[in-house]
Amino acid sequence: MRRNVIVVTGGAGFVGSNLVRRLLEDDADVRTIVFDRTVDDLAHALFVPFGDRVAIHLGDITSPESLAAVPGQDEITHVVHAAMAAHVPQWEIDDPTRFVNVNIVGTTNVLEWARQLPSLERFLYLSSGGVYGDATADSPEEPQPETGPFNPPELYAISKYTSELIAYRYGALFGLDVRAVRLSWVFGPMERVTSSRTLMSPPYAIARAIIDDRPVRVTRRSLSAVGDFLSSEDISQALCSLLGAVEPRHTCYNVAAGELTSISDLLDLVAAIHPSLRRTVVADGESADIDHDPALRRARWNAYAIERVRSEFDWEPRPLAEQLASYYAWVFEDAPARCPAIAPV
Ligand SMILES: NC(=O)c1ccc[n+]([C@@H]2O[C@H](COP(=O)([O-])OP(=O)(O)OC[C@H]3O[C@@H](n4cnc5c(N)ncnc54)[C@H](O)[C@@H]3O)[C@@H](O)[C@H]2O)c1
Repeated sequence: MRRNVIVVTGGAGFVGSNLVRRLLEDDADVRTIVFDRTVDDLAHALFVPFGDRVAIHLGDITSPESLAAVPGQDEITHVVHAAMAAHVPQWEIDDPTRFVNVNIVGTTNVLEWARQLPSLERFLYLSSGGVYGDATADSPEEPQPETGPFNPPELYAISKYTSELIAYRYGALFGLDVRAVRLSWVFGPMERVTSSRTLMSPPYAIARAIIDDRPVRVTRRSLSAVGDFLSSEDISQALCSLLGAVEPRHTCYNVAAGELTSISDLLDLVAAIHPSLRRTVVADGESADIDHDPALRRARWNAYAIERVRSEFDWEPRPLAEQLASYYAWVFEDAPARCPAIAPV
């Protein structure tokens, strides 16, 4: 039987590194290749226990040459494409071309490279609920389904949607098995500021306050604001199921909790795990660790419909309290390294 060799672009990042670990833990015959621009100490430490089953290839998806230099290409069975530049408002102003070059051209480079791999079985694109974007008149009140509507506003979301369409087209043109997943609001182990993502999740901001032994500062409006929060650990499990499925029924899957949690409830859940957590509610507009608009409840800010992934792969997110407990257990094993300080919003 042929062994799976799985390349993960952005494999040293938040979502990618969790997936690499999960792939290696789940199947002793799997080998992975982490293709990333940079690999920090946290990612190195995660990969060390797996020895030579994880190969690190430093490269840039904007460079076809660095993709062509990946060793052992004839054996690669799966490509998971996670590398990108995330939405940061100032980056969009300072260098709008970055989103086109890294996210759209970079994705096309990865597809162009992948289509020539002789043993490739599946290409999985990590997309974002950002493609649902800002609510339109047609955006449902009930959980957001994979069928849209699509209304991506900023360059990040536009580039994610465009890349999805390009990936599907490559699938049709070249007979590639192309799948995409759209993630909601991710938190969990391995979240940290990277060269491509600087806006951290509320659970990260809460952990920082606990580490600093100070109250977490929350704007008043945020208490009733909501999000569909899912841990990187639960995401990895869903991605492994999709990678391993013989013939998935759908091209695209939401991977999310499927329900909304308010920031107030999120704080209560964390306080039940860490009773030392204190909160200070500040006026809207003041500097805070968490500030989110309660009016955002539809489209990308809605709960996502997860019937596809749930029914087909028998996947179920753990209760949020369990996901949070698992995340904080991981953080507090080595808090300074696993949850470094960030600037307030
Ligand atoms: N984190 C979230 O909340 C979230 C939500 C929705 C979707 N996603 C999607 O998940 C995927 C992974 O995001 P993440 O949260 O792990 O971000 P991340 O920044 O932690 O990881 C991205 C990785 O890509 C690498 N990278 C960036 N540009 C590169 C380039 N030009 N060449 C090679 N490597 C490059 C970075 O070094 C980093 O390790 C992305 O596709 C993102 O759109 C994430």
